[in-house]
Amino acid sequence: MGERCKVSWLYVLCVVLALVSVATIVTLWTIAITGGKGGDVTAPWDRDRLPGYLVPEFYNITLWPRLKPNPNSNLYIFTGWSAVQFECLEATDLILIHSNKLNYTEMKDEHFVSLTSEEGVSVPNIKSTWLQLQTQYLVIQLMGKLTPGQKYQLHAQFTGELADDLAGFYRSEYKEDGVTKIVATSQMHPTNARKTFPCFDEPAIKAVFHLTLIHPTGTIALSNGMEMETATITVDGETLLQTTFEATEKMSTYLLAIIVSDYAHLRVSGNQIGHWFHIRIWARKKAIKEGQGNYALNVTGPILDFFQAYYNISYPLRKSDQIALPDFYFGAMENWGLVTYRETNLLYDPETSSNSNKETTVTIIAHELAHMWFGNLVTLRWWNEVWLNEGFASYVSYLGADYAEPDWNVKDLIVLDDVQKVFAVDALVSSHPLTSKEDSINLPGQIMEQFDTISYSKISLSYLQDNNVSLPRQVDAIMNRWVRQMGFPVVTIDTSTGIVSQNHFLLVPESNVTVESPYKYEWMIPVRWMKDGATKDIWWLLEKKGLNVDMRTGPSWVLANINVTGYYRVNYDLGNWERLFSQFNTDHQVIPLINRAQLVDDAFNLASANYKYLLCLQIHIREQVLVHFTFIIHPNLRSAVYCSAVAAGGEAEWNFTWSQLQDATVASEANKLMLALACSNNTQLLERYLEFTLDPAKIRKQDATAVITAVANNRAGQNLTWQFVTKNWEHMFTEYGVGSFSFASLISGVTARFSTPQELQQLLDFEEEHKDAGFGSAALAVDQALERTQANIKWVQRNKQDVLQWFRSQTGN
Ligand SMILES: *[C@@H]1O[C@H](CO)[C@@H](O)[C@H](O)[C@H]1NC(C)=O
Ligand SMILES: *[C@@H]1O[C@H](CO)[C@@H](O)[C@H](O)[C@H]1NC(C)=O
Ligand SMILES: *[C@@H]1O[C@H](CO)[C@@H](O)[C@H](O)[C@H]1NC(C)=O
Ligand SMILES: *[C@@H]1O[C@H](CO)[C@@H](O)[C@H](O)[C@H]1NC(C)=O
Ligand SMILES: *[C@@H]1O[C@H](CO)[C@@H](O)[C@H](O)[C@H]1NC(C)=O
Ligand SMILES: *[C@@H]1O[C@H](CO)[C@@H](O)[C@H](O)[C@H]1NC(C)=O
Ligand SMILES: [Zn+2]
Repeated sequence: MGERCKVSWLYVLCVVLALVSVATIVTLWTIAITGGKGGDVTAPWDRDRLPGYLVPEFYNITLWPRLKPNPNSNLYIFTGWSAVQFECLEATDLILIHSNKLNYTEMKDEHFVSLTSEEGVSVPNIKSTWLQLQTQYLVIQLMGKLTPGQKYQLHAQFTGELADDLAGFYRSEYKEDGVTKIVATSQMHPTNARKTFPCFDEPAIKAVFHLTLIHPTGTIALSNGMEMETATITVDGETLLQTTFEATEKMSTYLLAIIVSDYAHLRVSGNQIGHWFHIRIWARKKAIKEGQGNYALNVTGPILDFFQAYYNISYPLRKSDQIALPDFYFGAMENWGLVTYRETNLLYDPETSSNSNKETTVTIIAHELAHMWFGNLVTLRWWNEVWLNEGFASYVSYLGADYAEPDWNVKDLIVLDDVQKVFAVDALVSSHPLTSKEDSINLPGQIMEQFDTISYSKISLSYLQDNNVSLPRQVDAIMNRWVRQMGFPVVTIDTSTGIVSQNHFLLVPESNVTVESPYKYEWMIPVRWMKDGATKDIWWLLEKKGLNVDMRTGPSWVLANINVTGYYRVNYDLGNWERLFSQFNTDHQVIPLINRAQLVDDAFNLASANYKYLLCLQIHIREQVLVHFTFIIHPNLRSAVYCSAVAAGGEAEWNFTWSQLQDATVASEANKLMLALACSNNTQLLERYLEFTLDPAKIRKQDATAVITAVANNRAGQNLTWQFVTKNWEHMFTEYGVGSFSFASLISGVTARFSTPQELQQLLDFEEEHKDAGFGSAALAVDQALERTQANIKWVQRNKQDVLQWFRSQTGN
């Protein structure tokens, strides 16, 4: 799956030098599997996990979404019929199957379902059926027991709401030539298939899906399998289409996709990846006509070719569909054979999109297509393994993107985007290890919380090992230390004594780490280094007081973590820092590009964490950065111009930009306009804009978090935004629900600039005030915000005078 919001150009990537074999991944997978279950005495329907003694083989599902509201209720709905065939493994008189927000049509004896079997097999009568809301089960109690080894079919007929909640089978709307159009689309991952039809909704419980969709004439129905047949049918005098699909592979419920739209598409067909095959890109008619899908179509073939060779397994399906949706919660979703995207992530308009939009598109496509094998063919057993799934896809997405666009040096920017992003979160004591026990993650909110920066990007380390590096035999020993303890080390190299040591790097050094680690926060660190421009061999640092290597260099410098292949920061003695920066001034080319970026980031962060002597140096670096490292900055002229225009203008300019946003037909352009509107320095306009985020007719739900965060990042809007979020938290939380706002991004975005004791107090008050409603998937983000604010306060206290002095000396004031 694609991360929800993408701030930087490269999507989610990892630091890597060389290839890693799939065998290593399998080893990792094995390492990751942990945990068992304790005994408990709660009723089976009050437990969060399915008991596992019923194993589905296939589902037959027919769904009929209505693309017009019901005249009585004014709601958009869908109706459905489903049958699931399952095998019974243990005698039982209880059937538990997931179901959420579905209304059942009563069958025989007023039960919600009926049960059948093959001829000659006796089927117990149903005693009672009910919905267990808390655990989202449809519970079926039987008069007698099911027989082990026997197969049964469970039939149901139901209705659900085709809501605009971005979860399950939902509704997306857009305007084309003044006409409002409805798309019925789906986001089953992670736990929303149960909102579409009754199913055994856990990732390890795979089955084959036979789908049929009933839809209006003039629309097209898509699903994971290829369309087999579309027939015209008449229901209650209404002429409709009925499309049946090729059966899916055996797969998890969360990978199912169903879409009805009047979209157009681009296609290439042929015998191009070893067998007869179709690649199709779907989008709004206008977007396809304007050529916005061309880039995606061009890169998909090469990326699939690359992954087939990389995994040494043919692409498992007969077609690859990718579709751009106007309303979409995540960045993208790897439904098998029908990948869904936010429009900005799939479409590319050569006229108005920036290079960075193009890079985003190719890396996200590569990420999602990587999942067609890793994730879909081989699937996580439970959500505690998300980091393997996402981390690996992130890692190989960079290989796939590099194959499709070999001239872009994709590798060089990974460090800036991903490593530094994880470093920021993983330097807090509120971080978490990659692995967690299977039974510690049960509730939908906990499952959502797994999809964080740590899961997407930290795995980098695990995949970075260069095959050609003398990797010690005990891979497990190395891996365990990286995946089972949170955080990362700072390696200190004292070139005057030759002593190399490691410590747990913490943004607030005096914080108390309360989570114990069996490895005592020691890591096995691959140290690859360079002396006077020549690369030296790698060696492994294991203990805190590590090796004593002859790094004495006289007048010259030492640089460790070449090309940032290791997940750690490096500190040096002051003499070496100075020699490194003087090398910048004489001939910076000697230092690999990636290290130049990392040196600056390390120096800033070590100074923030109050590593001695680095602050003066930090100011010196700031100048160096301006001189040599402006490549950190991604010029995106359009965004900058729009933002300045709104900032310098008044209400008329704001209104004009708003009207441009309404008319924009290119998603990436709309995105730039939307963010520019947050640049105003007029608090009334900003307040109005914040209110718009609660009205989906003005700001799409998928964009609300981005708008609120953008206003918070504007100095003029920071206070307003905090007031707005606190005032509306309860409403957003209960009305919009988990499927709409990304609460974690919201909290971290809105508090990013917090650095005063008053702000800390506000945050504490907020935590106290909303304790009862809870924070759902944002619980961790609240802890992180508290810790980061404390760190910021300390930093300001410590360094305010020095910085002020420096500014005064620079400005002569
Ligand atoms: C592996 O390392 C050795 C010694 O450093 C070098 O000679 C060889 O060319 C390397 N092989 C590859 C494939 O990079
Ligand atoms: C860590 O614990 C010590 C002793 O309990 C305490 O004095 C100190 O304030 C704590 N540090 C932080 C940052 O909470
Ligand atoms: C570092 O990375 C760059 C760019 O990917 C590459 O050209 C260079 O050979 C690498 N340097 C070392 C010492 O591995
Ligand atoms: C907003 O910006 C304009 C133009 O830069 C300036 O004249 C005005 O004083 C600013 N308003 C506020 C409230 O800062
Ligand atoms: C901006 O638009 C709002 C809402 O449509 C309207 O009330 C206001 O008068 C407009 N302001 C200007 C200066 O056009
Ligand atoms: C924001 O709020 C804080 C505390 O409530 C206040 O001290 C500060 O002046 C406000 N800032 C602005 C720009 O209004
Ligand atoms: Zn993914």
